[in-house]
Amino acid sequence: MTALPPSAKAMVPFVSVDNMMRLVHRVGIETMLRELTDRIEEDFRRWESFDKTPRVASHSRDGVIELMPTSDGTIYGFKYVNGHPKNVASGLQTVTAFGLLAEVASGYPVLLTEMTLLTALRTAATSAMAARHLAPKGARTMAMIGNGAQAEFQALAMKAVVGIEAVRLYDIDPIATEKTLRNLQGSGLLVTACSTAQAAVEGAEIITTCTADKQFATILTDNMVGRGVHLNAIGGDCPGKTELHRDILLRADTFVEYPPQTWVEGEIQQMDKDYPITELWRVITGQVPGRRDATQITLFDSVGFAIEDFSALRYLRERIAGTDLYQNLDMIADPDEPRDLFGMLQRAAD
Ligand SMILES: NC(=O)c1ccc[n+]([C@@H]2O[C@H](COP(=O)([O-])OP(=O)(O)OC[C@H]3O[C@@H](n4cnc5c(N)ncnc54)[C@H](O)[C@@H]3O)[C@@H](O)[C@H]2O)c1
Repeated sequence: MTALPPSAKAMVPFVSVDNMMRLVHRVGIETMLRELTDRIEEDFRRWESFDKTPRVASHSRDGVIELMPTSDGTIYGFKYVNGHPKNVASGLQTVTAFGLLAEVASGYPVLLTEMTLLTALRTAATSAMAARHLAPKGARTMAMIGNGAQAEFQALAMKAVVGIEAVRLYDIDPIATEKTLRNLQGSGLLVTACSTAQAAVEGAEIITTCTADKQFATILTDNMVGRGVHLNAIGGDCPGKTELHRDILLRADTFVEYPPQTWVEGEIQQMDKDYPITELWRVITGQVPGRRDATQITLFDSVGFAIEDFSALRYLRERIAGTDLYQNLDMIADPDEPRDLFGMLQRAAD
């Protein structure tokens, strides 16, 4: 008896790094960042319909490996992501990722994809979404402290979504700042390299910290943060890994993704449990105000939550449909008779 070819459900669309790069170029990075921002915001609006859990983190002395699952009842998604700040010294990246979407009804996967690039895009889009609700009106200048892999994406999302025109860069490693300066040439942003973090924040209405260090670091101290700014703190995203002095948090109104995860991983791990926080989705749905006045310091204590990856995966699935930007992977064993898995194996002897 000849075996039937694999059914459509057994072939899983796979987006390689190469195809992800082609997609970004085809769509245009700023358009893609805008579309991702809107998609993430759409999912934050239906926050309550998601199955939520803090990510499952496996910590070691060298870094962390995390699984980030969620489901909206129809589609299930997860991301595998690592965080290894010391990797860069040996020529490897701090953060790499891949992810999957599956159909809840059958449990069969419907998308497998690279997510190192997609994570940089979705993290930048999430920052821009938060800034759209929290940054001072008419913000035109941002400071970008930490000029590593995420930096250009962050700057471009703030330009595309918030209207940022100038970026002031600082990194302890001048090579990273030179790289970012070079990459942002021709972007339309006015980019300035600064020799200290203090100099970088001068005149900035939005301050993004995106450094990688496995410790309680103090990238910003209280005296560096003037009234009215919006802080977008991305790099503090693990137990024992923060970027801001706690005195800043005492002056700021702090907005978070998913509290059970942020209390463990975010800047607020430094605070007492009665420290007030606001869930960003409540601002987005209009239940609570975001920025109230021009003097308020707002802080988006970003750690990265599974729903943002789910939104990015969902966006990707729709964007690649009908294009040549994916391959079908023979990923799910597909016996002609579902209970004859062994028979399928036997028949494939040669
Ligand atoms: N919140 C999120 O959703 C999210 C998503 C992705 C990455 N991250 C985090 O963002 C951080 C940056 O990621 P990346 O991929 O750009 O890492 P990266 O290693 O490519 O870059 C980090 C940069 O920070 C610089 N740096 C370290 N200490 C510094 C200091 N004290 N002052 C100024 N600069 C300093 C390093 O020199 C390096 O250039 C990481 O901690 C990562 O875990 C968070």
